[in-house]
Amino acid sequence: MEILKGKKILLGITGGIAAYKSCELVRLWQKAGADVMAVMTPAAVNFITPLTLASLTGREVLTDTFAASNTGIDHIRAARWADLAVIAPATANTIAKIACGIADNLLTSAVLASRAPLVVAPAMNCAMYENAATQNNLRILKERGIALVGPDSGYQACGDIGRGRMSEPAEIFRQTASMLIASGQNRRMVITAGPTEEPIDPVRCITNRSSGKMGYALAQAAAVRGWKVKLVSGPVSLPDPVGVETVRIRTASEMLEHAWREARDAECFIGCAAVADFKPSSVSESKIKKTANDGFKLSLTQNPDIIKTVAALDNLFTVGFAAETDDLLVYARHKLQSKNLDMIIANDVSSPLTGFNSDDNEATIIYRNGRETPVPKMSKEDLALRIIDAINCELAETAALSESEENGRQ
Ligand code: CTP
Repeated sequence: MEILKGKKILLGITGGIAAYKSCELVRLWQKAGADVMAVMTPAAVNFITPLTLASLTGREVLTDTFAASNTGIDHIRAARWADLAVIAPATANTIAKIACGIADNLLTSAVLASRAPLVVAPAMNCAMYENAATQNNLRILKERGIALVGPDSGYQACGDIGRGRMSEPAEIFRQTASMLIASGQNRRMVITAGPTEEPIDPVRCITNRSSGKMGYALAQAAAVRGWKVKLVSGPVSLPDPVGVETVRIRTASEMLEHAWREARDAECFIGCAAVADFKPSSVSESKIKKTANDGFKLSLTQNPDIIKTVAALDNLFTVGFAAETDDLLVYARHKLQSKNLDMIIANDVSSPLTGFNSDDNEATIIYRNGRETPVPKMSKEDLALRIIDAINCELAETAALSESEENGRQ
């Protein structure tokens, strides 16, 4: 499926052994319809030849700022051409140059001259990666909004075992594809997060232990991927995610009111809130007093199902969460169907390592067509990016499919 049709990617290759993996990355982008231009540093040509890249990309490979064929502005041409610039592999040396704004070869010059978003996939020996200088440089890149993919941990070409291996091409493809699909568009997403609070009287309420961390991480990840996000949040102690319009509510009814209003103009809705299923049938206006030897009975009424209500809207991609303690996948599959969702994220909340208040999570992404993708334990931030990427790819595939059906009819 050509989900990247018409997108232009500038691939920077630096002098690391992982350079051979760049060929696979080019193939993945091309299969998805993207046009790729390669720029290599002088060190990179020691690992793979420009001819390999030229044959794969069908384009001249830029290597030398002062080549006879170069009019002296190849780096500017390349910089202006790209929708996205990706450096994979990125050595510690090139990362340091980018952090300092050094432009001493065609690649670093093109990066400095480019206004396109930049993705860097570090690849180096684990000691070089852990070195304070490299860590500091990576922090500078992050602060400038440059996206980092990896590095992974494992066996390294030099024989060491540790963190520094370039991420696999499939992972770099997934993250860059998601950025390209979402970039420059005014697409709206609504996310619910946190618990709800159902008042019993002015001082008491029914609530639950949801921390809101997963929903807030999703809102941040969606904003990073270029979505215009509205976050409808129950009471939590987290700061508003950067670049996200956040509205704070208390009850399920208030959450429904905001979610419904916003979802009508949105393309995607994620229900991540732990909505109280029941609320007190009536709320006492004054504090309820205990009376001796007299039990207390609370009558409850069912709350509206927010995600099921908004899932009835046409053209809204709806994603739910199934936080369960037993029979995780069975309940999740059932919820996907009974709530008419496009995707559900099944996660086990019985473990303190991945439950409500933890920083990590693991999940299975279940699609409407029955496909299931397990996602191993990782930080809620990383899982959030995975989920947003999965949504972006699914929406792009649906759009590409309907475009080809439309073309077939004409
Ligand atoms: N949800 C919702 N409104 C509700 C209850 C749940 O929008 N009143 C959404 C949640 O945000 C989540 C999904 O539905 O995306 C599943 O929530 P969950 O609490 O697991 O399911 P329930 O339908 O409440 O079922 P049960 O509590 O019986 O497991």
